[in-house]
Amino acid sequence: MKNIAVLLGDGCGPEIIQQAIRVLDKVSSVYNLNFKYNYASIGGRSYDETGLPLTEKTIQTCLSSDAVLLGAVGDWKYDSLSPELRPEKALLGIRKKLNLFANLRPVKIFDELLNTSPLKPEIARDVDIMIVRELTGDVYFGEPKGIIKKTTLDNREIKVGFNNMIYDEDEIARIAHVAFKSAQKRKKRVCCVDKANVLDVSRLFREITTEVSKEYNDVELSYMYVDNCAMQLIQNPRQFDVILTGNIFGDILSDEASTICGSLGMLPSASLSDGKTPFMYEPIHGSAPDLAGKNAVNPIATILSVAMMLNYSFNEKLAHDAIYRAVKDVLKEGYRTRDIYQKDLKQELCSTSKITDLIIEKIV
Ligand code: IPM
Ligand code: MG
Repeated sequence: MKNIAVLLGDGCGPEIIQQAIRVLDKVSSVYNLNFKYNYASIGGRSYDETGLPLTEKTIQTCLSSDAVLLGAVGDWKYDSLSPELRPEKALLGIRKKLNLFANLRPVKIFDELLNTSPLKPEIARDVDIMIVRELTGDVYFGEPKGIIKKTTLDNREIKVGFNNMIYDEDEIARIAHVAFKSAQKRKKRVCCVDKANVLDVSRLFREITTEVSKEYNDVELSYMYVDNCAMQLIQNPRQFDVILTGNIFGDILSDEASTICGSLGMLPSASLSDGKTPFMYEPIHGSAPDLAGKNAVNPIATILSVAMMLNYSFNEKLAHDAIYRAVKDVLKEGYRTRDIYQKDLKQELCSTSKITDLIIEKIV
């Protein structure tokens, strides 16, 4: 039996996780797998219960499990809390505590959603990109940081805010290895995305990535500035296989890339460590507090995150494929949640639980 730590989170987190667990239960019965779920609180929910967004108890539950499944964190009602107590802090905290330095965000469009993509079908067709985003460094964690006071030349006291974009060689090398290994299983191309024309930290990122690439002769390495990449993702997204990038650029580019697939609600993610701590799986979207509790959000990103878990943490490729196929079949038959629904195409609008029922039916 394998243990999965389940962190429901805030907003729509609990409902998408509930549906993803139903899918996991079905796939477990079909493929004879055995999982035990260990529920723990994170984010605003944890703050309400304990006064802290991330507790030692939750960290221990995760560390003692074989994998972690997370919904989403955040709600406007916590916006006035100090930065240390905000739900987002818990997400960064758990990524750091579990040493989840490699975030894999597959951007793969289902043919069935070509009409939903804001890009022309001939541009969006067959897009299949793996964004490898570094997850425990960069401006997200760099020191020094803060908001302090300074006195101007004309003697006024004003505030100044700063964060530090910082990477050391080891951090760059380990994420580069993940990108090259991932490319070896794909189309064998890595594009290193940075801002090396301006930033010293990006120049080091390129230099170390280039060094690491020498160990992967079968993989072709190219470089692109992040502003250009933002443009190329819209103009010609098919040119990319693996995108290797830092934390903040990866955050921004993955949201952008997700819309190619029709909706932010479609994209799963896996966050990997060096193997000594469990991996974590979460949709790339947020907690959508305005939609929470209405049985209206798209659970597919979380369902596909469970599929990634079966693949990366439990090596259950067949179970992974079964979920992916079921999602595809349901889309093919025209069932859609609101975010991917187009009335004029005679599709059937589904609730969160209804589309999950249909996906579950297809797993046999
Ligand atoms: C993501 C999210 C998080 C991030 C937020 C919620 C802290 O946007 O996972 O992409 O910036 O990493
Ligand atoms: Mg993001």
